[in-house]
Amino acid sequence: TRRVRARDLLAAKERGERWPMLTAYDQYTAGIFDQAGIPVLLVGDSAANNVFGHETTLPITVDELLPLVRAVVRATRHALVVGDLPFGSYEEGPTQALRTAVRFMKEGGCHAVKLEGGRRCAAQIRAITDAGIPVMAHIGFTPQSEHTIGGYRVQGRGGAAEDVLADARAVAEAGAFAVVLEMVPGEVAKRVTGELTIPTVGIGAGPDTDAQVLVWQDMSGLRTGKAPRFVKRYADLAGVLTDATRRFADEVRAGEFPAAEHTF
Ligand code: KIV
Ligand code: NA
Repeated sequence: TRRVRARDLLAAKERGERWPMLTAYDQYTAGIFDQAGIPVLLVGDSAANNVFGHETTLPITVDELLPLVRAVVRATRHALVVGDLPFGSYEEGPTQALRTAVRFMKEGGCHAVKLEGGRRCAAQIRAITDAGIPVMAHIGFTPQSEHTIGGYRVQGRGGAAEDVLADARAVAEAGAFAVVLEMVPGEVAKRVTGELTIPTVGIGAGPDTDAQVLVWQDMSGLRTGKAPRFVKRYADLAGVLTDATRRFADEVRAGEFPAAEHTF
């Protein structure tokens, strides 16, 4: 079967079908998610935190992210792969944004790009989509702006709901094929989802968006410690890997590994 296309996601919304999305940053996990039927994979700038160990998403560069995009594209056959434009690679305006998006498509080989910002990035979204590149927008809480927002905070509470709606309308009007809604009240996400014809992808936005996205290390329990309220852990990968690591170490120390069957 062929790759998922942006237009397939619009058609899914028209049919009322929800879909799952995950981040992916490397070959094996991307291949597993693709085989398991995840139609959209995001090579997120969250690789800054989840691959490179930074505190925020701000430090990651285009040159650091592009090799991960290539790995995910090579490892998948069905999923639409979205490359996330890093902080600093599109804010200067439509020209810079288009230049970066073109690099993601040519050098990364991905099928769409994503950027953060609503009304303030409408011109960038327009320029990129006019060049034939599908754009996924990202509004509500936008991690690249956390120093302005003041940390991880729910956006769109009370009167600020109108700001989220205005951002959603602006990105749809500018040509985005989907929009991520991060950390907005469920009722606000429901309103946006009802109003827009493009799919909404929720993360911490309640059950009424067209799609749901999680960072894969959160979804699988590879990341331990306190997780945000919107995370559900579907496995304990950290536990599985810790156990395997301890058994390997114990067997090496005991002289039990390698055994005869592992020896030439
Ligand atoms: O980079 C990322 O992981 C994201 C998603 C959580 C939407 O932008
Ligand atoms: Na991101």
